[in-house]
Amino acid sequence: MTAIYPSHLVQEVLWHGQRLLIRPVRSEDTDGYVAAAKLCTIEDVRRRLMTGIMQVSHALVSKFTTIDYERTMAFVAEGVKGDLMAITRLVQDSCRKSAEFAIIVRSDLQRQGLGTLMQKMLLDYANDLGLQEVWGMVDCENRKAMSLVEKVGFIRHFEFGNPFARVVKVLG
Ligand SMILES: CC(C)(COP(=O)(O)OP(=O)(O)OC[C@H]1O[C@@H](n2cnc3c(N)ncnc32)[C@H](O)[C@@H]1OP(=O)(O)O)[C@@H](O)C(=O)NCCC(=O)NCCS
Repeated sequence: MTAIYPSHLVQEVLWHGQRLLIRPVRSEDTDGYVAAAKLCTIEDVRRRLMTGIMQVSHALVSKFTTIDYERTMAFVAEGVKGDLMAITRLVQDSCRKSAEFAIIVRSDLQRQGLGTLMQKMLLDYANDLGLQEVWGMVDCENRKAMSLVEKVGFIRHFEFGNPFARVVKVLG
């Protein structure tokens, strides 16, 4: 069954005077993802995918762009020229009370508040769904992501010997 596109979730925002469309991903965004990945460092892609992947292929990307919009949601920030600038993703756990997030901002656009903007919008969406918490696994050495999530209220939970920390934001 084809998933119905949730057009009510499309929003226009102003970012440094520039109009951005924050919208649920579409399966037609595959080319946009691949183009955006080319503007990201290998390190940033690795941090996002948590693998040593060297090339972001169309086959890989189609798994991210074709979603059910029910249990899985992904938002893209689209610039006026149609280019993708940042992507967030939320996958609900089977209990439907919590969900795992992931985020990437194009490497050439970082440190200008786009990550904070996208992460806050994702949390608002999770809150509207009635979820109790949003969580993620972040490499303890990933200073940029750790700072971002702590800035928006996540708490780190370390486990001795684990290079990844579980970060959790309680909602409601
Ligand atoms: C983490 C990430 C999403 C942040 O995006 P961003 O657009 O740069 O974030 P913002 O500009 O909103 O910055 C938010 C905070 O993150 C921290 N931060 C961002 N870039 C940083 C850097 N280069 N060094 C240190 N802290 C940094 C800061 O605390 C910053 O707040 P401040 O600017 O008020 O000091 C981005 O770096 C990224 O895509 N990284 C690769 C993918 C990744 O690691 N994803 C997380 C795991 S899924």
